[in-house]
Amino acid sequence: MTARPTVGSLVLEAAGRLEAAGVSFGHGTTNAFDEAAWLVMRALGRAPGDVAPIAGEPVEPAGAKAARALVARRIRTRKPAAYLLNEAWLGADRFYVDERVIVPRSFIAEMARDRFEPWVADPARVASALDLCTGSGCLAILLAHAYPEADVDAVDLSSDALAVAQRNVADYGLAGRINLIRSDLCANLVEKGYDLIISNPPYVTDRSMEALPAEYRHEPAMALSGAPWGARQARQRSNGVTVVGASAESSLSCQAWLRASASSAQPLRSQRV
Ligand SMILES: C[S@@+](CC[C@H](N)C(=O)[O-])C[C@H]1O[C@@H](n2cnc3c(N)ncnc32)[C@H](O)[C@@H]1O
Repeated sequence: MTARPTVGSLVLEAAGRLEAAGVSFGHGTTNAFDEAAWLVMRALGRAPGDVAPIAGEPVEPAGAKAARALVARRIRTRKPAAYLLNEAWLGADRFYVDERVIVPRSFIAEMARDRFEPWVADPARVASALDLCTGSGCLAILLAHAYPEADVDAVDLSSDALAVAQRNVADYGLAGRINLIRSDLCANLVEKGYDLIISNPPYVTDRSMEALPAEYRHEPAMALSGAPWGARQARQRSNGVTVVGASAESSLSCQAWLRASASSAQPLRSQRV
C-alpha cells in the first residue's frame, strides 16, 4: 500500500512542477513554493497561510487528486492562481477577482494601510477621497478602512471592472461610503475637491506588453496599457501613486489633478511618493 501524501509533500511536489514548467509568478506570490502552498491549501479547502504547522498531516486521495489537478490547470492555462481561485490578497484582506480585473498587487495597499502617513499630515481630516482607475475596488476599500469618516469615489472606465468592484464593496459592507462611477478619467465627475487622490493607472508601455509572460495576457489589456493620458506620466514620475492632500484648504478636484499630472514641468501641490 502506498503511503498517503502529506500536505507538506504535496506542496513540495507542486512547487517542483511549477518550477519545472517555468510558470511566471507575480500575481500574489513571488516564488514556486508560495504559489504551490496557495493552490494546494485551497484545493484542500483550507485557508491559505503557513504550511509548516500542518505539513505532516496526511491527505486523502480525493484531496491529493484535487490539488494535483489544480496545479496542472495552473500550468496548462498559465492563468494566475488568483483567477483560478477567484481571490486575491492584499495583506490580510481578501478580494474577489476574475478576468474582468487586474490581479491586485499594488504597493499602494501598504501605504493605504499606513494611512499615507507621513504624506497625509492629518488623517483625521480626510473626509473625501478619490481612487481613479479602481479596477476591483481594492484600493478604494482600503481607503475607506483607513479613513472611516471619508466618502470615497472610485472610478473606472470598464463596466466589467466596476461589476467586480461592486461585489467587493458589497462584501465589505461599504456600499454606503464608496461611490462607484463609470468615467473616462474625470469626465463624468462633478468638479469637487478631494482631500486625497490616489491612482494606480495603466502603466505598461506597448513595447513592454509584448514581452510580458503569458500570465499577464489573462488580465484585461486596458488595465495594463490603457493609459492614454498624463496619468502614465504621473505614474512614471511618482513611482506609481500620486497622493494629493490632505487638508480642507488644499483639496483638489480630479480635473485639476489631471491637469497637474499631465504637465511634467508643474509640480503637484502635494508631496509625491
Ligand atoms: C493598473 S489597473 C489598477 C486597478 C486597481 N486600482 C489596482 O490597483 O489593483 C488600472 C485600471 O484603470 C482602468 N482604466 C484604464 N483606462 C481608464 C480610463 N481612461 N479611465 C478610467 N479608468 C481607466 C482599467 O480598467 C483598470 O481597471
